[in-house]
Amino acid sequence: MQIQKLPDGTEIHWDGKHYDADNAKYSVDIPFYLNEACKAKGPVLEIACGTGRLTIPVANAGVDVTGLDITKSMLDAAKLKARRAGLKIKWFRADCRSFDLHRKFKLIFTPFNSMLHLHDHRSLDRFFTCVKKHLLPGGRFIFDIFNPDPGFIAAHQDKEYPIGKYTDPYTGKQITETENYFYDRAMQGTNNTWNYYSGGKLLYRRRLRMRCFYPQELELLLSYNGFKVIHKYGDFNREPFKSESRQQIIVAARQR
Ligand SMILES: C[S@@+](CC[C@H](N)C(=O)[O-])C[C@H]1O[C@@H](n2cnc3c(N)ncnc32)[C@H](O)[C@@H]1O
Repeated sequence: MQIQKLPDGTEIHWDGKHYDADNAKYSVDIPFYLNEACKAKGPVLEIACGTGRLTIPVANAGVDVTGLDITKSMLDAAKLKARRAGLKIKWFRADCRSFDLHRKFKLIFTPFNSMLHLHDHRSLDRFFTCVKKHLLPGGRFIFDIFNPDPGFIAAHQDKEYPIGKYTDPYTGKQITETENYFYDRAMQGTNNTWNYYSGGKLLYRRRLRMRCFYPQELELLLSYNGFKVIHKYGDFNREPFKSESRQQIIVAARQR
């Protein structure tokens, strides 16, 4: 099977149907993004939209939404679901660091840790430049990423531990997923391996690479790239961000 790797070497988004089966229970962010998309009162762009897990509910609420992603299999799954639901969504296959849709949006959002695939400053600068170029005046840029927990990272390093179970969408087999990783201090992120088992037998392994963005560093990066932070939440109930928050949820606007 041909696996499409992300530019950062990540392999876990190789199949949209596996992704949907694996993430079927993750929905805590949907009301938040739905609310922001309806509030935007204008066109919305989801960057790194994947299989449309959020794009589709947003379109279903009557919002003019566009989805952009680099992975063909993820977009294929998104298009199929949208077609079946009778929704008109514009989909683009592109790298989030170098796209031009010749259109501007009232809201651009990049959910579910997708920015963690951008590891170096050049990638981030290019990504932020594309976001700014596509934002309408008064528009918002919203994203959520993990709040890195050095205690957790140190405690789990080099240990294989379970992370989930799902049914293989093609074979109907029960898949058990485990993870192990090491933290690369130069890259400032984790090199993870996800192991997929069925009936106790290892089926395959996939790589995942994720940069950590520490809270103070993130605010500097946004400021240096011309964004001002309007809100910073620690969860999707809009609790203020604090040390123990699992997420960093940023609502930003262009300042130049
Ligand atoms: C965790 S998934 C999120 C998908 C979807 N937004 C969701 O919430 O379910 C991350 C997505 O980022 C996409 N991605 C990673 N690097 C990208 C890049 N350089 N350009 C565009 N998309 C990228 C992957 O293809 C994948 O679909």
